[in-house]
Amino acid sequence: MGVIFNCVQLLLLWLAATSSRLAVAETTTFPIFKQEEAIRAAKSREVLQYMNLSVNPCEDFYEYACGNWPKFHAPPVGKEDSGQTIKTILEEKIEEDLHNLLDENVTLEDSSAARRVKVFYKSCLEARQGEPSHQAFLSDFIKSNGGFPAIPGSSWLAHHHNYDWQHVVAILRYHYGLSVLIGMEVDNNYQTMEENSLYLQEPSTMMPRSLCNARTAQQIDVTDKTYDWVEQEVADNLRLWLSMKKEDALHVAADMVTFEHDLCKAMYVNSSSQDEEEEFIGSLKPENRTREYPRKSLNHFTQQFNNTLDFNAIVSNSFGVGVTKPVFMKSPKYFEQLIQVIEETEEYNKTVVANYIMYRALTYFNFPLNDTPRNRPAYCLQVVKKYFPKVLGDIYYRKYANTLDQHKLARVFEQLKKIMEESLNQEWIEEGTRRLGKKRLSKMSLQFPSYEKFTLNLEFVRNDFWKNLRMIMGEVRAHEVNRLFSAEKPMPKDEVQAYETRMVYRPYHQCIDIGWGVLQAPYYQAALPHGMRYAMIGQKLGQTLATAFDDLGWTADNPDHKVWDSHTAVEYYKNANCFTEQIGNYLHNDPYSYHNATKIRRLIAQSVGLNVAFNAYLDWLFYKNPSNDNEMLSKETLPELDFTNTQLFFIGFAQAHCESRKKPKKLDPLKHYRISPYSKHSLSRYQVNGPLANFIEFGREFHCPIGSEMNVADKCVIY
Ligand SMILES: *[C@@H]1O[C@H](CO)[C@@H](O)[C@H](O)[C@H]1NC(C)=O
Ligand SMILES: *[C@@H]1O[C@H](CO)[C@@H](O)[C@H](O)[C@H]1NC(C)=O
Ligand SMILES: *[C@@H]1O[C@H](CO)[C@@H](O)[C@H](O)[C@H]1NC(C)=O
Ligand SMILES: *[C@@H]1O[C@H](CO)[C@@H](O)[C@H](O)[C@H]1NC(C)=O
Ligand SMILES: *[C@@H]1O[C@H](CO)[C@@H](O)[C@H](O)[C@H]1NC(C)=O
Ligand SMILES: *[C@@H]1O[C@H](CO)[C@@H](O)[C@H](O)[C@H]1NC(C)=O
Ligand SMILES: *[C@@H]1O[C@H](CO)[C@@H](O)[C@H](O)[C@H]1NC(C)=O
Repeated sequence: MGVIFNCVQLLLLWLAATSSRLAVAETTTFPIFKQEEAIRAAKSREVLQYMNLSVNPCEDFYEYACGNWPKFHAPPVGKEDSGQTIKTILEEKIEEDLHNLLDENVTLEDSSAARRVKVFYKSCLEARQGEPSHQAFLSDFIKSNGGFPAIPGSSWLAHHHNYDWQHVVAILRYHYGLSVLIGMEVDNNYQTMEENSLYLQEPSTMMPRSLCNARTAQQIDVTDKTYDWVEQEVADNLRLWLSMKKEDALHVAADMVTFEHDLCKAMYVNSSSQDEEEEFIGSLKPENRTREYPRKSLNHFTQQFNNTLDFNAIVSNSFGVGVTKPVFMKSPKYFEQLIQVIEETEEYNKTVVANYIMYRALTYFNFPLNDTPRNRPAYCLQVVKKYFPKVLGDIYYRKYANTLDQHKLARVFEQLKKIMEESLNQEWIEEGTRRLGKKRLSKMSLQFPSYEKFTLNLEFVRNDFWKNLRMIMGEVRAHEVNRLFSAEKPMPKDEVQAYETRMVYRPYHQCIDIGWGVLQAPYYQAALPHGMRYAMIGQKLGQTLATAFDDLGWTADNPDHKVWDSHTAVEYYKNANCFTEQIGNYLHNDPYSYHNATKIRRLIAQSVGLNVAFNAYLDWLFYKNPSNDNEMLSKETLPELDFTNTQLFFIGFAQAHCESRKKPKKLDPLKHYRISPYSKHSLSRYQVNGPLANFIEFGREFHCPIGSEMNVADKCVIY
């Protein structure tokens, strides 16, 4: 009964969200099948409105399916780098749902943790920057954490001649979980995956990683205008928090930015300016890819740094317990630089380091500069997600999880696995490797988050956000210590929560984690043809499945460390190379110009996902309807749309990737954008057109002659 109720509720929600023209009062009395008809009709209109039927689908299918998308979905304001896609639209809807859930009055069904988090969220919405409780909190915070020289008239030097920065950063970590100057993280031991381990690494910085990395910082001087906005932002904050004069604030800010910029020169030495490690095609070979971090005791590292950095003391002061087991050091270069830069900076002016540390800490206890009543809910939700991911997940789960749809998706997943298994029969895979692959595939399951009862022993108050924040930040340490010393098989650091739309392959847990958030329109709608289901959520799942069988999945992340045989590896690279050349040609008419291995890997997975999902759909059709029964097939099309069910599949796939995007204004100063000679050729278009042009079935369905843009003669295929 609960299940049926949920299902109907989901439909209503969808109706309310996407088609306000259908009166809700009417739908409540609709028989189910009429509702379905309404949904199908609405989907028809939607599919059609995004298409440009004047475009030849054999020349540019993306334009054909998505030509009118930008008319309906302007790119999001303020986000230069991200376009509007169905994914971003869905994520916005989920944010809205989460706000509403947190904003609701406490109900009887709420767990005690949920009630408390709702109070926390409301206290965040209602807090005011600089209110008396905030002032009192800040002044106490500054006093007990080493002071803040930038405060006008603070005579900091006189009171803090024995300022010990290593001690200060450790107590900030202990009391608030903050990582200033010394990055520390508890994560799976990547060598064994059987335990968690401590990693010493780069800390977060004021500047985004695209500016704060060795490559950029070494090439661009800190006085360059690239860094102006950082300095301005720091100065603006200082003026807001401390009522400093403009001149003084800019002066202090400039010193801090210079200090950080010097640190950046030794950060992320061997990776790119991007958030993700950039890998070049040459590094696709397994022997070049092994991560090797030194793993030693804290004593050892302390000695290695000639006792200039007392890792033992820093770690035990940070966690409140000594750590005797070995730890990993991700970035020795950074720590060397840190010592040197601090030495030089203190020689120049003793106050800079203390200013930097306190400034960084205070950003966590002040609202951001763009704080307005409009922006506040997004900020508060972000804080809730950071500190209470599971409570929030539980709240979302109780409201939206729909086990009926979960079971339907599980069947789609089994079908995808079956097709993937058939794909592993290809000749280029050597027999032993094939057996291992099939074994792995057969064990793989789909995991949705669910939540056990848990308690939250913190009593928040409605009228003092700052106190609440301090309380929850004080819990971070206990949580980390638990994870560090837990004897259980460790969970991944980035667990997928119910409200997410992510799908993540977990090699060590032999599963794909998937958020409940994706199990709704437009990715999944029970009333629509099954083909749509396979084209949207099925393709996405197939894509995730494919990552278990790409070069990374086969090798580095394999739980038993069994690397594929060299014959299969060579053949894989040959096939992968086909994609590389094709993309190079598509973008630049230059087969060797494209070098982003991460992107290539993704495009390959995208392509595999498409093939697997389509064949799984055919398999389902054949199983359901061996005799091509017309009535059944008519349910697989949409009313008043002149497309076959299989054509609809491809349109659904393409529309899942429509994107409206502004031209980027702020360019990464070091990236040399090459303008494609073909004005419309872009990677996001290739994401759709590439996999389709390589897929025989697509050419057949749309009657594209071989050799046309969308039915290339030299096809690239892996699985
Ligand atoms: C549709 O495509 C045709 C042919 O490329 C083009 O001339 C027309 O402007 C497009 N329509 C819209 C609304 O973009
Ligand atoms: C919560 O309860 C208060 C008082 O009982 C009421 O005024 C308010 O409208 C309720 N808010 C919501 C979102 O239901
Ligand atoms: C250090 O810098 C601060 C702020 O920029 C300044 O007020 C102070 O006079 C400087 N101290 C020395 C010794 O240069
Ligand atoms: C970075 O790469 C160079 C050579 O490519 C290597 O010698 C060095 O050890 C690497 N540094 C780090 C920190 O991994
Ligand atoms: C990959 O490793 C081989 C030797 O194992 C080496 O010759 C080659 O230069 C490496 N390539 C890159 C890009 O590091
Ligand atoms: C430690 O001292 C040795 C010998 O003086 C020196 O070679 C080494 O570079 C120093 N290490 C660091 C990290 O300062
Ligand atoms: C490489 O591709 C990844 C994945 O799409 C992307 O995040 C990254 O920015 C790309 N790197 C470069 C240098 O374009």
